[in-house]
Parts: sequence; structure tokens; C-alpha cells
Amino acid sequence: MSHPPYEIDQLISAKSIAARIEELAEEIRTRFKDTDKLVVVGLLRGSFVFIADLVRELDLPVEVDFLEASSYGDGMESSREVRILKDLRGEIQDRDVLVVEDIVDTGFTLDHVVTLLKSRKPKRLETIALLDKPSRREVDIKATWTGFDIPDEFVVGYGIDYGQRNRNLPFIGKVRFT
Ligand code: IMP
Ligand code: MG
Repeated sequence: MSHPPYEIDQLISAKSIAARIEELAEEIRTRFKDTDKLVVVGLLRGSFVFIADLVRELDLPVEVDFLEASSYGDGMESSREVRILKDLRGEIQDRDVLVVEDIVDTGFTLDHVVTLLKSRKPKRLETIALLDKPSRREVDIKATWTGFDIPDEFVVGYGIDYGQRNRNLPFIGKVRFT
């Protein structure tokens, strides 16, 4: 898929992300301090950088698992119909679970995933999203923890892509068509 030419303007620096993750990890550690095992579920693919940095700040017994839900395809619009492309490897019944998402936009993806995972009867289930675009919400859902609220801009970097590109940028930037 080809895209019109664009440039990327930095929105959130790598340093700000790292500082915010330290704060979030502290809150998560407090919430789950008595856990025997926290299953950290990353939503592929956008959360892979975030989850890697987050778990290294979590001084808790963690297990890492991944789930892939279809969402944007290669475009800029949410498909609204969410399908599970790759399910968890492990069981989460009676476990403490933390779902890690890159961005909550319309809310369809997180809502679908939370409903699915709650049906498996975890002991506790919380959610964290690095970014939130509250002005775009169509489903009434909010992550337990959010890194940053951002305006209605299409963003890339720190794991997040535009048509599979730019995931490897160390910061979050917004796409500007030129
Ligand atoms: P939702 O279902 O509309 O909340 O969309 C959530 C998913 O859409 C996220 O997990 C992202 O993969 C993708 N997404 C939402 N906003 C952006 C963006 O600005 N850039 C890249 N992907 C995005
Ligand atoms: Mg995603």
C-alpha cells in the first residue's frame, strides 16, 4: 500500500514517555502489590514497544502474553468490527490481568478485548493505554491508566504505525501530509 508523502512532527519525546512510564508503573505496582502473578497482555502490534518498557519498570512477578485484534488495517480509519486474529497462549481464569494498548481511539478495540477477556473470569482485570484520543470516542470505555491524552491527530512511533511504517521511531510524532 502506498501513501501520499508526509512528514512527522514530534508530539511526545522519548524522555517524556520514559518519565510517564515510571509514574504509571508505580501506580500499577501499588494496585497489584499482593499479586502472585500478573499476566501482562499486549495488544499486537502497536503495544510491543510500550509493553517492553513497561514490564521492565514493574517490580512484580509478571508473565507476558499477546493478543492480536484487527482494527485499522493499513489505513487511518477504525474498522469498528473487531476480530481476534491471534489469541492468548495462556489461561487467565483467576489470574490478575493487565491489558496493554497503544491508543484508545473510537474505543471499539479495547471494549471488545475487555469483554472477551472478562468472560474468561480473571480475578482482576485492569487496562492501560499509552495514548488516548478522548475526542474520537464512540464506545463509552476508558482505560484504568492512560499515559497521555492527545488531540485528534494521526500519530506514529514508539510501536505505532502508519501502514506498517514508523514503528521504530523512539518518540511519538504526528503525521503531516506535505
Ligand atoms: P479503536 O478501536 O478505534 O479505539 O482503535 C484502536 C486501534 O487503532 C489502536 O490500537 C491502534 O492500533 C489504531 N490507531 C488508533 N489511532 C491511531 C493513530 O493515530 N495512529 C496509528 N494507529 C492508530
Ligand atoms: Mg492497535
